[in-house]
Amino acid sequence: MTTNEQSRTQWLGRWGFVLAATGSAVGLGNIWKFPYMTGEYGGGAFVLVYLVCILSVGVPVMMTEIALGRRGRGSPIDAIRRVVTESGRTSAWSLLGWMAMACGFMILCFYVVVAGWSFAYLWKMLSGGLAGSSVDDMAAIFGANNANPFSLGAWSTLVTVATMVIVGKGVQGGIEKSVGWMMPGMVVMLLIMIAYGMFSGGFGDALHFLFAFNAASLSSEGMLAAMGHAFFTLSLASGAILTYGSYLPRHASIGRTTLTVAVADTLVALMAGLAIFPVIFANGMEPNSGPGLIFMSLPLAFQAMPLGTLFGILFFIMLSMAALTSSISMVEATVSWLTDNKGISRRAASWGTGIVLWLVSTLAMLSFNIGADWTLAGKHFFDWLDFLTSRLMMPLGGLGMVLLGGFVLNSSVMRDELNLAPTVYALWLFMVRYVSPLGILLIFVDALEIANVDFASQWPVLLLVLAVITVIGELASPRLRQSLVAKS
Ligand code: PHE
Repeated sequence: MTTNEQSRTQWLGRWGFVLAATGSAVGLGNIWKFPYMTGEYGGGAFVLVYLVCILSVGVPVMMTEIALGRRGRGSPIDAIRRVVTESGRTSAWSLLGWMAMACGFMILCFYVVVAGWSFAYLWKMLSGGLAGSSVDDMAAIFGANNANPFSLGAWSTLVTVATMVIVGKGVQGGIEKSVGWMMPGMVVMLLIMIAYGMFSGGFGDALHFLFAFNAASLSSEGMLAAMGHAFFTLSLASGAILTYGSYLPRHASIGRTTLTVAVADTLVALMAGLAIFPVIFANGMEPNSGPGLIFMSLPLAFQAMPLGTLFGILFFIMLSMAALTSSISMVEATVSWLTDNKGISRRAASWGTGIVLWLVSTLAMLSFNIGADWTLAGKHFFDWLDFLTSRLMMPLGGLGMVLLGGFVLNSSVMRDELNLAPTVYALWLFMVRYVSPLGILLIFVDALEIANVDFASQWPVLLLVLAVITVIGELASPRLRQSLVAKS
């Protein structure tokens, strides 16, 4: 433990962790997925539920992961093994680390394809390839972009290489350095885009759409999607945050850093909405066009506006940077595990990982063209990667993390790492023991189609279930009381 503490690299600057973790959190999830999900699930009500999920599940899980990483000072596998061994528990828990590491890698295998779209559209904007296109042309352009495996593959290869070059340069010289300029740059571009949106004529409609609460549009499906998205957007249970946490200096406050990252991530998602929807509304378009929102509707809208091409270019530069600062975090767990355990240099580990990544992501990329018929149970390889990670591995991993932190480890471990005021600690414990597991179980019920319950109208039942499991849990495990008594 002590040798690890001394030999593990740490973030150089005061803002190193916050920028890197925010860079990981802010990505395609915020700028591509969140706006179109908000569009599909009806606006303000979805946004509100999403905020509740971030606070009640996302923040407690993230705190747990950072604490596990910093305590164990290693990749998810090594860190979890050290932490459970310290508490005298079975090292089988390190399977949780394996799953997290695999999850990050699997997400990246389809993420590079979508990030490749962003680079491709940046190029189309720069080269004027979208000029004068109609609605139908836009759909055809999007289709053509995916139909050619060579060009689509070239764009995702570019993302793969860029990711591995940055990660290969190390935690301080690669990751910390690149997020140090990409994150501020991204925020500045986003602010410029919002300012542009304000003068577009659709800003009022966008504000109304994002923030007006309309209970009638709240559906169970939307609520569960919001919960699942909370995991994805905060990069949870995928090795990214845990590994970044393993480089966190001892004096940093985990509670405060987590809140900063969660707030920044949420602000960027809302800001992305404020940048995109005004332009959409100003052109009389619908917000609910799904995944094609920023690749078809938005470029079309930009074209019709003064200086639209310029702002379109800015938008896709911003999106590409957001994607890169996320993609580097998805492989860091694997690269860190390889360098720590296989006696190879970081550079070699990065290139090795990159080659496997390239092979698997190529297979995912083919789902859009020559592999369009290669389906299993109706899903392409691309869709399978998405389904397995977002719907199963992330919630399952999150459940493992909170049970580990909430029940399994000796209570002193988390209390020392988190170092919170007693009441805040008690709140965290209540969240990770009961609220987060219940929320996560609901995602499973939904993902596995176990039951078709209308959660939106059944919230009193859910509250009752929460109360019952809390009472049972606290009777079965006297640690909450003990830990509070021990502290004060
Ligand atoms: N949070 C990233 C996004 O919103 C995605 C991500 C998932 C990054 C898992 C790292 C690990 O796009």
